[in-house]
Amino acid sequence: MAKQRELRFPKGFLWGTASSSHQCEGGNVNNQWYRWEQQGHILSGEECGQAANWWENAEQDFELAEQMENNALRLSLEWSRIEPREGIWDSSALERYREMLQDLRRRNMTPVVTLHHFTEPLWFAERGGFARGENVRYFLRYVNYVTQALKDLCDFWVTLNEPNVYAVQGYQMGEFPPGERDLLRALRVLHNLMRAHVEAFYAIRLHQPQARIGYCLHYRLFDPAFFLSPLDHAVAGVQDSYFNWNALKLAEEGRYAFPWNLLTSGIRRAAGARDYHGVNYYTRELVSFDPGAASDAFGRRSVRPGAVCNDEGLDGHFGEIYPEGMYRVLYDVYRRTRGNKPLYISENGFCDARDDRRPAAILEHLAQAHRAIQDGIPVKGYFYWSLVDNFEWNNGWHVRFGLIDLDPRTQRRTPRRSASMFGEICRANAITE
Ligand code: NOJ
Repeated sequence: MAKQRELRFPKGFLWGTASSSHQCEGGNVNNQWYRWEQQGHILSGEECGQAANWWENAEQDFELAEQMENNALRLSLEWSRIEPREGIWDSSALERYREMLQDLRRRNMTPVVTLHHFTEPLWFAERGGFARGENVRYFLRYVNYVTQALKDLCDFWVTLNEPNVYAVQGYQMGEFPPGERDLLRALRVLHNLMRAHVEAFYAIRLHQPQARIGYCLHYRLFDPAFFLSPLDHAVAGVQDSYFNWNALKLAEEGRYAFPWNLLTSGIRRAAGARDYHGVNYYTRELVSFDPGAASDAFGRRSVRPGAVCNDEGLDGHFGEIYPEGMYRVLYDVYRRTRGNKPLYISENGFCDARDDRRPAAILEHLAQAHRAIQDGIPVKGYFYWSLVDNFEWNNGWHVRFGLIDLDPRTQRRTPRRSASMFGEICRANAITE
């Protein structure tokens, strides 16, 4: 039998799970995702409803995270609760977040707080949301308000979650609200989001100089379907540079990658405006040249034949489970940013209702993260998506990412095998291969 190897992670490594307000809290009826649901856009036809009931009792799940010896937890604030109408602030909502953060701190977990995770108040969406540059000031006002009110409890902020997904899914693919299909609008939205991040970074820095402030991007691997085909290489390269690196370049240097830089100007003060890189990594796709796929830049996407896969989502966005991609993405972010900041794996997860692929997938992805650390890449934490099953956007409850199974009707929780395994990893600060 092969000898087992223990791979230890650096001292102080953050171990936790990630989640978001709309997906977990329940009862969020004042944001654009609720309206989207009311308009019948959830592919499974399901409702977010009580979600995982965090608004009433997030603490029961924090307790489970504590039992897993997590030392951090990432959650988001629901802007539509805090500022339900323009300029009207709800102090009871803020108080509830204070309770949650205090509870985490009592359990010795570092709260990592996202300020915008896909949802925003209806009044903001109705004013045109991030498609209008002048609306960035509303976001900034909210950021100033909440970060000042919570700075005694949190000093690790994620300004934006996956601005590239928000822009592409909402404004180019039409799959997220507001359901538009317009490449130029998607670029404009990404631009405004990154401006919002940069402004938010400097605003928080001013009143909380010691805070860690950054954003998370979604990185997806696009590989040529047929290695010997130059056309497959070309179209995969276009998808990759557009989705992954254009957003990173904009955030890093305030400039777009070619050819997008021909369309629009950059962002002042972007360079240096983050303390870490948040990396959300899930999967890869193969891309082949297809003259019929004009709207997808002539690249048809597919899953590698024979690959171990996630459960099938109704929107087809989760396919291959590809651990090596973890290393490749960490390496690429590090290289493209010239190793200028620490990296956090702010999300990585698998939808696997039976939990028969997840344990191995977590181990294999962590082995790749460890390999990156051995190669000198400063990876400082890992956040599994997600602690409990939650409302997966346009897929509803159809796909299950949780370490803990949740029946949304009864609110019954059943830890999966992955939960005990993740607990052992966090306790040991190591994996065994
Ligand atoms: C990305 C998003 O940040 C999160 O909201 C989503 O549920 C997971 N990945 C899984 O799709």
